[in-house]
Amino acid sequence: MSTNVLVTGGCGFIGSNLVRYLLRERPDWKVVNLDRLTYAGNLENLADLADDARHVFVHGDVGDRACVDRVLQEHAIDCVLHLAAESHVDRSIEGPAVFVTTNVLGTQQLLEACRARGLRRFVQVSTDEVYGSLGPSGAFTETSPLQPSSPYSASKTGADLLALAYHHTYGLDVVVTRCSNNYGRYQFPEKLIPRMVVNALRNQKLPVYGDGQHVRDWLHVEDHCQGLLQALERGRAGEVYNLGGGAERKNLDLVKGILAALGKPESLIEFVTDRPGHDRRYAIDPAKSRRELGWTPAHSFEAGLADTVRWYVEHPEWWERVLSGEYRRTVTLTH
Ligand code: NAD
Ligand code: DAU
Repeated sequence: MSTNVLVTGGCGFIGSNLVRYLLRERPDWKVVNLDRLTYAGNLENLADLADDARHVFVHGDVGDRACVDRVLQEHAIDCVLHLAAESHVDRSIEGPAVFVTTNVLGTQQLLEACRARGLRRFVQVSTDEVYGSLGPSGAFTETSPLQPSSPYSASKTGADLLALAYHHTYGLDVVVTRCSNNYGRYQFPEKLIPRMVVNALRNQKLPVYGDGQHVRDWLHVEDHCQGLLQALERGRAGEVYNLGGGAERKNLDLVKGILAALGKPESLIEFVTDRPGHDRRYAIDPAKSRRELGWTPAHSFEAGLADTVRWYVEHPEWWERVLSGEYRRTVTLTH
């Protein structure tokens, strides 16, 4: 059966990879991409789809009910993959308000529109950060307590709980996914890996927060996209699925690995003041996703990181336009 799927936030890092992934894996689907084009939204991430009529870009806000109603109706949407969000922890510490507006209130508006329309499925794309921080051992399961530390993760927790409440109260078919740190092509250079690669390529300092011993569990963005498709097609309504890469790395080791891959000296590393409320360690137990969705990540971290670093080396025009702000002038790519 062909599907008209709405991807929100499809011009961001994961969203743009997901739009491309869906069109490759499900060639008869139509993918409608609703994105407000904040600083993180970049139409150039989808430049290769400019002539592909299966992708429809709509410039709009998930919190704009009239806009969402129109998109759902006009494109006969049957499923939603909701990724649109403010996504950067440091920005949420500097200015939390927009995180509540988009991640909590925007999600609620979108849920309300979907409830009114009666969708086949709503996938709330969330994060392991809702579980807070781990000690040196153990991993998050879907029943771990919700203990978000930052305004970002608190806003995602609020959104997840609203989505689940729309299932329990109104019967909307909701699945929540929570995944670990993604890496790959088209990631905005405010996040650890692209920031370090781009700084190293420009021979600038690489700022490592605190002692650099914080641990993240890295997941290749394509493996995440696969998990989202499987959650959409195979997940049970009202359930939460954790998606993790099984690749725990200390930040400092990762940064040293990037410098080695680029042939740059470790003297570029600069230890800077730690992030307030900085979660020490994340790790995901993916057993439920493996068992119920049949999901396992395909990429090894070493190969995936090498490919990602190479992509940034070979595409300076992409990140130079991001750093200069030129990318925000791209306004075409509509059908
Ligand atoms: P991103 O910041 O790269 O992209 C976010 C996208 O959402 C942008 O295109 C932006 O323009 C759009 N957007 C923001 N506000 C909007 C609004 N009000 N209406 C419509 N569009 C809006 O984010 P990302 O890293 O690709 O993350 C995507 C989703 O995945 C987020 O929900 C995030 O919480 C979640 N997630 C990300 C990671 C990660 O490692 N990046 C890990 C787990 C979960
Ligand atoms: O765990 C999933 C989350 O991963 C997602 O929900 C978020 O949207 C995504 O941004 C990411 O959050 P993190 O805070 O873990 O990612 P970030 O890339 O900002 O930082 C990764 C680690 O690197 C973290 O321990 C902070 C550290 N760091 C980050 C930056 C940008 C540095 O040491 N220096 C830096 O310059």
